[in-house]
Amino acid sequence: MNELQKFYPVTAQAKAHTFFDKPKYQELYQQSISNPDQFWAEQANEFLDWYKPFESVTNVDFHKADIEWFKGGQLNVSYNCIDRHLTERGEQTAIIFEGDEPSDTQNISYNELHEQVCKFANVLKQRGVKKGDTVCIYMPMIPEVGYAMLACARIGAVHSVVFGGFSTESIKARIQAADCKVVITADESVRGGKNIPLKANVDAAVTECPNVHSVIVVERTGADVAWNDETDVNYQQAMATVSSICEPEVMDAEDPLFILYTSGSTGAPKGVVHTCGGYLLYAAMTHKYVFDYRDGDIYWCTADAGWITGHSYIFYGPLANGATTLVFEGVPTYPDAGRCWDMVERHKINVFYTAPTAIRALMGIGDEYVLDKDLSSLRLLGSVGEPINPEAWHWYYEIVGKSNCPIVDTWWQTETGGILITSLPGSAGMKPGAAGLPFFGVQPVIVDKEGNEQDGEARGALVMKGSWPGQMRTLYGDHERFHQTYFSQCAGYYYTGDGAQRDKDGYYWILGRIDDVLNVSGHRLGTAEIESALVLHPKISEAAVVGYPHDIKGQGVYAYVTLMHDEVESEELIVELKALVAKELGSFSKPDLIQWAPGLPKTRSGKIMRRILRKIAENDLGTLGDTSTLADPSVVEDLIERRLLR
Ligand code: WTA
Repeated sequence: MNELQKFYPVTAQAKAHTFFDKPKYQELYQQSISNPDQFWAEQANEFLDWYKPFESVTNVDFHKADIEWFKGGQLNVSYNCIDRHLTERGEQTAIIFEGDEPSDTQNISYNELHEQVCKFANVLKQRGVKKGDTVCIYMPMIPEVGYAMLACARIGAVHSVVFGGFSTESIKARIQAADCKVVITADESVRGGKNIPLKANVDAAVTECPNVHSVIVVERTGADVAWNDETDVNYQQAMATVSSICEPEVMDAEDPLFILYTSGSTGAPKGVVHTCGGYLLYAAMTHKYVFDYRDGDIYWCTADAGWITGHSYIFYGPLANGATTLVFEGVPTYPDAGRCWDMVERHKINVFYTAPTAIRALMGIGDEYVLDKDLSSLRLLGSVGEPINPEAWHWYYEIVGKSNCPIVDTWWQTETGGILITSLPGSAGMKPGAAGLPFFGVQPVIVDKEGNEQDGEARGALVMKGSWPGQMRTLYGDHERFHQTYFSQCAGYYYTGDGAQRDKDGYYWILGRIDDVLNVSGHRLGTAEIESALVLHPKISEAAVVGYPHDIKGQGVYAYVTLMHDEVESEELIVELKALVAKELGSFSKPDLIQWAPGLPKTRSGKIMRRILRKIAENDLGTLGDTSTLADPSVVEDLIERRLLR
């Protein structure tokens, strides 16, 4: 531990504001562990409105990967996020929207949100969408993406939001995997002054999705887009003709709310399934306590709706709590690097939640963009998606937060639905780079290679003992893979795929993925997916992808590619390969570096030894480790010779 990682006690401001000081946190945490059923029953009744009370709290068997919460309970997520707030806060702003251009802003009240969501729900019904149907949402960050999600929730349809940066091929794969019959999109999205042709991407995708009968298109830019009268529906026109009354569908606690595809270490992306009751409770409760949320706060999470952070902490958690949540269409560097701080000043943001990659990028551009803004409204800062390096932490804490705002470094995953590890502000001091202590009801465990629990200070694989309400329930259409991926490595525990270290104070330091998943700019990328894209090129016979440390992105993508016999290396081919990955997966997955590899280091059984490839990519040659199991050790010498970083 170095000077930058010293301990920061709870700030005076946080102490005065917090829901939980240290003794209170400890007491409630103990209760949540020793009597979880009683604890969660109380929370479920405090945070949510139920049509019918649940009969039991937990039915969980990790050995079978069977997880149920609040059995017998009935509720509707859209009712909980909207309707129940109307008498008290109908006129309060639910969503502040800011477009790509700073002058393009709009406040949407809870009453307006209600009207839009009911109408959209009726549009979906008109197109035949029923409870249990799956709907694909491929949208810009505009209020309509929230309306679309909530409209699905209202009628019991299951949404699958696909990040707007994904390519045609990725959309197609996700539509097919979840068998979506309806797609919601926009003509174009606008980011950093550039227009992105969403509708055209969907058009290309659905040519191979025969089951899609409706494509609902929001006019965002008014661009001229191709139109198919049979399938395409103009959103604005359809909204003008439907009723604004739509009773929420009564849903069982365990009915699915959404599917969200995420990258795994092998194979096709995994369709993570979250259900109505437990997910909403966990999103709402963590939003309130982690961000110390109070009525009247203006809250901004910079994530995209296409990722879990956007689901839980732009829409579901904040809206369940009746909060004012900001939806931002643009990027932090447009029109200049002061955009976020300008928005904090203009909208008087109290809580700001972003990713280390954004912090590092802004930090690199210079302090002057921050220092000329009035950031006095800020009370709390959050970080998510990857470990925050101490340098970025200090910049965030001192330059943005003026050493007055606690930083919550929140560790969680698509699979966990909400934040599992972060020290609650006011209840524990901060250590830059450590996520900190577990949330209520969460029992992190460190295990060694044999799966034995480690006590005290320890380092190893991070697993979870016992369930929490926001935990995913299955992988869409593949419960066996769910069991295999998360519950077979370490029997009886949920396997996170991350490594972690627990220090003497019980703080957890996340060490990153221990599987073949990369974390690039806080986005999860599967090495297998990128490799599959690269080998689609007719001149490429084999590819292996690893991560390497990258100043801004956290990790960069480093690809080793082997040419087909008789093909020659060229700069043009490198450009083609990068473009191919962008086309197949989206440009955020593009390799940063591509190295020619006449051979790849393989074991005698043919398994690529990524450990060695990682070391070569990182230019860390001192510790290549054991190469004796390699079929042909000379391959390694050659790759070292050709390495790109020195
Ligand atoms: C990583 C994003 C360190 C981790 C919410 C995890 C983090 C993966 C942190 C999940 C953090 C997320 N510190 N690492 N605060 N937050 N991660 O599914 O490796 O997109 O397994 O969910 O991001 O990424 P996902």
